[in-house]
Amino acid sequence: MAKIPLVDVKAQYAPLIPELKKRFEEVLESGVFILGPNVKAFEQECISFLGVQDAIGVANGTDALVLVLDGMGIGPGDEVICPAFTFYATAEAIARVGATPVFADIDAATMNLNVEDVARRITPKTKAIMPVHLFGRPAPLAALAALGLPLIEDSAQAFGSPDIARTGVASTFSFFPTKNLFCLGDGGLVAVNDPALAERVRMLRFHGSRDKVDFELVGYNSRLDEVQAAMLRVLLKELPGYNTARRAGAEVYRQLGLGDVLTVPEDEPGHVYHLFVCRSPERDAIRAALGEQGIATATYYTTPLHLQPAMRQFGYKAGDLPVTEAVAADNFSLPLWAGIDGATQQRVADAVLQAAR
Ligand SMILES: Cc1ncc(COP(=O)(O)O)c(C=O)c1O
Repeated sequence: MAKIPLVDVKAQYAPLIPELKKRFEEVLESGVFILGPNVKAFEQECISFLGVQDAIGVANGTDALVLVLDGMGIGPGDEVICPAFTFYATAEAIARVGATPVFADIDAATMNLNVEDVARRITPKTKAIMPVHLFGRPAPLAALAALGLPLIEDSAQAFGSPDIARTGVASTFSFFPTKNLFCLGDGGLVAVNDPALAERVRMLRFHGSRDKVDFELVGYNSRLDEVQAAMLRVLLKELPGYNTARRAGAEVYRQLGLGDVLTVPEDEPGHVYHLFVCRSPERDAIRAALGEQGIATATYYTTPLHLQPAMRQFGYKAGDLPVTEAVAADNFSLPLWAGIDGATQQRVADAVLQAAR
């Protein structure tokens, strides 16, 4: 029987290959590869799409976070509150600028930051809160904003979720190929709602300079490539359809009765299902059974960030974040991408129902 991957990136862009080739050839013919017209146009298109004040194309989603933190002047002696149940880059960026990641626990139902636990961890040194819109589900932005600190939204997994990127001072995106909006390599974006910060991030991505003559800041070389921007302009037009298809795929899994045997993600309107992440105490047995039938699954953040070797310096121990640790121990995701077909989902659901009974 044919294997079912966790995500079929090529199936998503396959119908667009002629258009992507045409745009690639245009860049090739132009001879302009760095900070050219496609990057500029893509930034403008993101400003309209996201409803933000400014947008800056950068090399990847990790740099996007680092540039925002650096642009805000966050560094040694400062604290930034973030979840430990997220990809490593979230906390890595905070540590990279010399600040201290302060890990808060999550809500079991949403797997996003628990606002009460965040509130408990605020100190005079806290300079920002960094919520992650995990697996495509919006973090509780209004409640977090009410805590009165700047929000830096790590939106790497949630491009196109309608209410994100407008509350925070900045919102960062990754275009890694498995993301909702993806490019054909590495890419990232900083969306900003503060003109002074936008100016600093734009300078920081290019060695701290506006004009290649005066270098006003110690910066980085972190630019979105012209080729990737050209691809992203094509894919951005498809994104609303991609996200509708992801939401439909998630609903199919619920209709097929997976909620009877697993804890499945509860729907909410802004959820764009970067991943369909379930929970089960039988996780390992279910994954093994699916694996035998050629169905790929994955687990996330099984060693949460507060327990990662590089984060030991911050003094956390097992038991400090009980909900995070419980979710880390029993979560796994099922195959989902924009355009996954009904027969494939039926095969996945049959295998899960059989394994879990
Ligand atoms: C939540 C989160 N933050 C940051 C990143 C980093 O993005 P990138 O891989 O583009 O550096 C990712 C994805 O890889 C992510 O999922």
